[in-house]
Amino acid sequence: MSGHGTPQAMMSRPCGPLSGVAEVPGDKSISHRALILGALSVGETRITGLLEGQDVLDTARAMRAFGAEVTDHGGGAWSVRGVGVGGFAEPDQVIDCGNSGTGVRLIMGAMATSPISATFTGDASLNGRPMARVTDPLALFGARAVGRAGGRLPMTLVGAADPVPVRYAVPVPSAQVKSAVLLAGLNAPGQTVVIEREATRDHTERMLAGFGAQIAVEETGEGRVITLTGQPELSAQEIAVPRDPSSAAFPVCAALIVPGSDVLVPGIGLNPTRAGLFATLQEMGADLTYENEREEGGEPVADLRARFSPHMRGTQVPPARAASMIDEYPILSVVAANAKGQTVMRGVKELRVKESDRIEAMASGLRANGVAVEDGPDWWIVTGAGPGGVAGGARCASHLDHRIAMSFLILGMAAQSPVSVDDGGPIATSFPMFEPLMAALGADVAQVQE
Ligand code: S3P
Repeated sequence: MSGHGTPQAMMSRPCGPLSGVAEVPGDKSISHRALILGALSVGETRITGLLEGQDVLDTARAMRAFGAEVTDHGGGAWSVRGVGVGGFAEPDQVIDCGNSGTGVRLIMGAMATSPISATFTGDASLNGRPMARVTDPLALFGARAVGRAGGRLPMTLVGAADPVPVRYAVPVPSAQVKSAVLLAGLNAPGQTVVIEREATRDHTERMLAGFGAQIAVEETGEGRVITLTGQPELSAQEIAVPRDPSSAAFPVCAALIVPGSDVLVPGIGLNPTRAGLFATLQEMGADLTYENEREEGGEPVADLRARFSPHMRGTQVPPARAASMIDEYPILSVVAANAKGQTVMRGVKELRVKESDRIEAMASGLRANGVAVEDGPDWWIVTGAGPGGVAGGARCASHLDHRIAMSFLILGMAAQSPVSVDDGGPIATSFPMFEPLMAALGADVAQVQE
């Protein structure tokens, strides 16, 4: 939903050891895709472990508006009775995707090759984000978009009545753009080809294959070449959504920096296109282990165990790893602030067009809390203060960005003085139980009256 009411300030104070089991919610990327592909298939898709965060709830509402029957059975169990590829109805209301770039971009793709129109909007964060990156390739199929200056929402997309398949090299490393093109390709005749120079998360490709689409992925000199044969009949699936590695990152990183901690985070999806943060932390000297490695629902899964790691050193994060940890740079910068030496993060221009400009948001909040940060257009460097070395004491702006809010609250758990954020409301987009979950581990985090 657009906006989320009155800002709710939150504060986190330095705390004792964190310990216990942290059951983080379902994967946000997979949850969106399960609802959308369920809506495009024939029969009833049953989903367990769906993330019931606001972003995904907005996508569920959108799928109803396009004609799918979406039912919440409680406890993360949902079902979707789909309308089939090409079967979307024209919504009779504006589609409000709230804070979710994934939601709006994937849904635009999914409707772009049907002869219907829809108008999309979102909150102040989403309405400031670039949409031309999806509407440009969707225009190649024959869709037309009319939005605000700079290709911003609110925007109306008129789907192609007579779509043609496309061959498209994605110019930025973006799973959202890749997925929008693949979803549009579903209702175009013939073969749609998407080429990505750098691999990004591949949940769409995996799930399309699971729903019965003909999809081939080839590693070539020009990158990953994905070929989808259009107009398949997708058949309903049973989907068990793994827990979200991007949400797991918060209790994991908290445990690494709060003295004496030992936290187990079970059932985390560890698809290699998502697991870059954990490799980086291990290189920094984190005491982080994978236990009980297994496969569930076509995705690799493990239990993560994180213990306080007093000897972490800064590192150079390889730019080639950026896509596999793109949402984790904010929380990595918090770990970096508690490590010794510099952590250098390059090739991360995409961070400037997320829910907020994440380099700017983290750099200014870290500086206010006594951490040295340098930054440029596509890089930033955090100079660590070592364990217990972060002063804290400042109030940070969360800029309608869940991951910025959670990162600063984790910073406060290991700082010398409390850290607060002006608005913890956006946390509900991806991790509604963040506050009670962290409190149950022993953190002192709470809403504050101002
Ligand atoms: C997502 C892709 C990423 C990521 C976002 C979720 C997805 O965005 O930042 O949180 O589910 O496809 P980009 O693909 O635009 O990098």
